[in-house]
Amino acid sequence: MTISMNAERIVILTGAGLSAESGLGTFRDKDGLWTRYDLNEVATPEGFARNPALVHEFYNARRANMLAANPNAAHLALADLQHFAPDRVTLVTQNVDDLLERAGAREVIHMHGELTRALCASCDHRWDAPETMQPTDPCPACGAQSTRPDIVWFGEFPYQMERIEAALTNADLFVAIGTSGNVYPAAGFVQEAIFAGARTLELNLEASANTGLFHESRLGPASLVVPEWVAEIRS
Ligand code: OAD
Repeated sequence: MTISMNAERIVILTGAGLSAESGLGTFRDKDGLWTRYDLNEVATPEGFARNPALVHEFYNARRANMLAANPNAAHLALADLQHFAPDRVTLVTQNVDDLLERAGAREVIHMHGELTRALCASCDHRWDAPETMQPTDPCPACGAQSTRPDIVWFGEFPYQMERIEAALTNADLFVAIGTSGNVYPAAGFVQEAIFAGARTLELNLEASANTGLFHESRLGPASLVVPEWVAEIRS
């Protein structure tokens, strides 16, 4: 079954596989981050309360990796697609890196937060994160020493869900790129898009957990399959 190339409104959801070829680790693949770290210790509010220094160490390392990395051909292709049809393309990412922005994309919806931002756990003030953060960093607004990375942890609500839901409701085409389909609510977007009448396409290295819900699945590295798909819909 082929996807209509004339889709009016396209919602694109990206995951860790988009940035894998830029050298940033995925979470659940062999050697993925969650095979080496306990997510309960580094990606939950309870873990942060127990050991904030360990959590900062983990995200400081992620931030250092991000700063050393460069966008790959898949990020560049998605930025290109957005420039080509800015009013028709909504970019939603679960990734906390800034590689889509560095590829030239704008208004990327970071539903799981951003490594480049800091959040005060006391007053909710947000600011640009320094390269290295520590628990004693004072909040620039209230002075509390409860600085955390602006990352959505397990047990917390993803950001900008209303905007995402609105885009899904109006989508003609939903495309999931480099995500394993294990983490909700993002893993449920394909179903919501189908309810809204959209066609659905998966671009991934391996079939995701919910591959059966997609009208079409194209398997391969993002740096190949994403530029190919973008070239196809731009032609
Ligand atoms: P996962 O690590 O669960 O899945 C990565 C997906 O990318 C897998 O389906 C791989 O097959 C695929 N992949 C790997 N290399 C690829 C490549 N070169 N090209 C294309 N695809 C490739 O990552 P996510 O699905 O993004 O949340 O994980 C979702 C959330 O779980 C993350 O945002 C993070 C994590 O816990 C939080 O930390 C809140």
